[in-house]
Amino acid sequence: MMEIVGGTSPQANLDRNKLSVLVLHGPNLNLLGLREPGIYGVSTLASIDRQLVELGQSLNTAVSCLQSNHEGVLVDAIHDARDRHHGIVVNAGAYTHTSIALRDAIAAVQIPTVEVHLSNIYKREHFRHHSYLASIVVGQISGFGANSYYLGLQALVTHLDGLGMISL
Ligand code: DQA
Repeated sequence: MMEIVGGTSPQANLDRNKLSVLVLHGPNLNLLGLREPGIYGVSTLASIDRQLVELGQSLNTAVSCLQSNHEGVLVDAIHDARDRHHGIVVNAGAYTHTSIALRDAIAAVQIPTVEVHLSNIYKREHFRHHSYLASIVVGQISGFGANSYYLGLQALVTHLDGLGMISL
């Protein structure tokens, strides 16, 4: 198991007793529940966030959630995560397919990140098949509805645990 030694990691000052994960939701995801329910399901963003926080509690992980329709706000949140969170779960919505800025932000902060999508982006329109994030994230979960977020959080916590980011 790799040990993260103080000073060598951008996250070296974080609490080593409890993981902290930021969940980022991109544009239009504030409309979940109303928005194309045949594709995205009927769960609201508030209920997904509540379940993520609860799941986090069972994994000894503090979960903070943020949604924005603005690319720059998401970039700023990724920068701010540097000293605050061990990992990120991101559903960048349509920015997945357009945003080099989000990709560069995640690459810059070097925070382990899991990409999630409610729908299976590879079964949909061709323009959704390419993700600018896929090549720099730990992994991607796509197509399980709201469960993609929960699976993503579990996968991220397992990954962070494997990196030795907390003292057990
Ligand atoms: C999405 C898929 C994207 O193509 C789309 O633009 C979204 C949501 C998903 O969760 O399935 O806004 O990221």
